[in-house]
Amino acid sequence: LHRGDLEGRRILVTAGPTVEPVDPVRFISNHSSGLQGYAVAAALAGRGADVRLVSGPVSLPTPPAVKRINVKTAEDMKAACLEQLPVDAAVCVAAVSDWRPASIHGSKMKKTGKEPPVLRLVENPDILATLSHLPDRPELVVGFAAETDNLQEHAEQKRQRKGCDWLLANDVSKHHFGGLRNQVLFLTGDGVECWPEMDKTALANQLAERVAFFFRGQS
Ligand code: C5P
Repeated sequence: LHRGDLEGRRILVTAGPTVEPVDPVRFISNHSSGLQGYAVAAALAGRGADVRLVSGPVSLPTPPAVKRINVKTAEDMKAACLEQLPVDAAVCVAAVSDWRPASIHGSKMKKTGKEPPVLRLVENPDILATLSHLPDRPELVVGFAAETDNLQEHAEQKRQRKGCDWLLANDVSKHHFGGLRNQVLFLTGDGVECWPEMDKTALANQLAERVAFFFRGQS
């Protein structure tokens, strides 16, 4: 219906998990499938946006007309995102590992017959917060949040803490990683909308509609 209304808009999307190496054969990661982020990239590109999809390792095809940049770690993902700037909007859907091993062993860690090793972790950069707080930030910054309790309150706190404009929050005790459907609260700072449960493609289309509405009337 509104095909092409995001033409000329450059939009960054992050998707998938990040992978944090422990040694040459081991890593820390999570169960993100990338489905929601890829659906968002496809929906925005379907309306004509120039989409840069910075993606952790997933087994999904690149959506038509989307430029995909593959990364592994959170630090790589952050660097790749910053390289895509300036953009009109950023939509962070990636499940970024909160921590990474403080150091990566150069060779495979071996059993010693003594105490098992202790993994020391350090915090990863928050890409959404970084993009939101840039002096020359994208005009629209959107995040996703997985919560297990007090959905609205925790989501609004997160939206403000991270400095993003919109936050889509879902209750992961109901809809978990890897599922095909999703149900979110849509927080804009002006209010909260409870969107009905729908599949991830429909959710992506609804979000793309809102993004298009946000930019409508601007040149
Ligand atoms: O803090 P939490 O992981 O719940 O926040 C989720 C949102 O923040 C998502 O939009 C996710 O892509 C983004 N995020 C990020 N970098 C991180 C952690 C989360 O961009 N290190």
